[in-house]
Amino acid sequence: MDQIVIRGGQRLKGRIPISGAKNAALTLLPCALLTDEPLTLRNLPRLADVDGFGHLLNQLGCSTTIEGSRPEDFGRVMTARATTLTSTVAPYDIVRKMRASILVLGPLLARAGEATVSLPGGCAIGNRPIDLHLKALEAFGAEIELASGYVKASAPGGRLAGGKFTFPVVSVGATENAVMAAVLAKGTCILENAAREPEIVDLCNCLVAMGAEIDGIGTETLTIEGVDRLHGATYRVMADRIEAGSYACAAVITEGDVELVGAKADEMEATLAALREAGATVEETKAGIRVAMSGRAQPVTLSTAPYPGFATDMQAQFMAMATLGTGASLFTETIFENRYMHVPELARMGCDIDVRGRSAVVRGVEKLIGAPVMATDLRASMSLIIAGLAAEGQTEVNRVYHLDRGYERLEEKLQAVGADIERISAG
Ligand code: UD1
Repeated sequence: MDQIVIRGGQRLKGRIPISGAKNAALTLLPCALLTDEPLTLRNLPRLADVDGFGHLLNQLGCSTTIEGSRPEDFGRVMTARATTLTSTVAPYDIVRKMRASILVLGPLLARAGEATVSLPGGCAIGNRPIDLHLKALEAFGAEIELASGYVKASAPGGRLAGGKFTFPVVSVGATENAVMAAVLAKGTCILENAAREPEIVDLCNCLVAMGAEIDGIGTETLTIEGVDRLHGATYRVMADRIEAGSYACAAVITEGDVELVGAKADEMEATLAALREAGATVEETKAGIRVAMSGRAQPVTLSTAPYPGFATDMQAQFMAMATLGTGASLFTETIFENRYMHVPELARMGCDIDVRGRSAVVRGVEKLIGAPVMATDLRASMSLIIAGLAAEGQTEVNRVYHLDRGYERLEEKLQAVGADIERISAG
């Protein structure tokens, strides 16, 4: 298996291009199932999960073609066309490897009037149920059965009737599935306490470009007037605010100065506020956002929350950054019950972190020492890269496939700003 090897201590300086957002891409791709016309997505990141989602679309009868972007370019253009669906089943083998596969449930139900999708099961960061996805669809008129590890959903008469659902807790995935199901309903669908993440705004904007009628985009109440059919569209995937935030943490821990090209400040205000709390200079530039740091990070107090709060997807990276801080930082994880799996690995590099339930106290230390490490999920893996960039000596990050799921050509981007980092292929 590939490894990433970092010799730490280089200050990051220069420009880092920010790719299209993974979490937006994985909810825009299933929109192709909603129409028989082509959906062309620009600025799709080159990631293992995007390829995996393309294969799932192919299994459902949706063709995918990638237009000739040069290998040295970041991003790709993909056209997906589901002229007719040949299957409405997302099998266990695919869903278990790629959780985002459950996002075909809403679109298949809307287009075909039925969908059979494997239950995803647990994952490394927590229990992650999908009950709210199902309750929202039921509120819109779906009939749901659970059997043999699968969800079987159907719309009586082939089309959802419409209705109203109030989320008891904010769920990004359930909001996405519900919106994609609602756009082709016979009536009006209302979602209250809906997620407001920028990726949901991106999804809604793409659906509107396809002919959907959605009111309240970017607010917690979405009103969707069902239409008889959607048409094709060309849509550009938003910039990845989590990738941008991750490189910002890398800049701070190395006392660097980077420009995150393409990043949008108004989509990542909580992250930028946390960087400022740590003492970084953060400013908007013409091309994106500049993050610069001199000296060690000041301690931060951060609690994860749905957007516009501090993202759970940024917690591990800020924790890595805080390990070299000047004092004690406090983290509280409110979204997932088990998202501190990076802590024991960071401890192997000399960090001082104390986890108590959902909270973690990080006491800044003078230095980190490189070590062989591995992580169990994507953002945790990135936290080890960030720590490795500042550690003395060599850090070997194993299980690189997690990073390949979410960071487009990570080592190339970091090399270009001065990091001593390379991928060692297992051959
Ligand atoms: C979550 C994050 C998202 C992040 C992604 C990957 C939030 C609100 N969501 O999205 O930012 O990109 O993980 O790390 O920060 N829940 C239920 N039943 C459901 C669905 C969710 O109880 O049917 C609970 C979850 O257990 C969790 C909370 O709701 O505590 C939010 O989950 P949700 O937003 O659905 O998770 P993801 O869509 O995976």
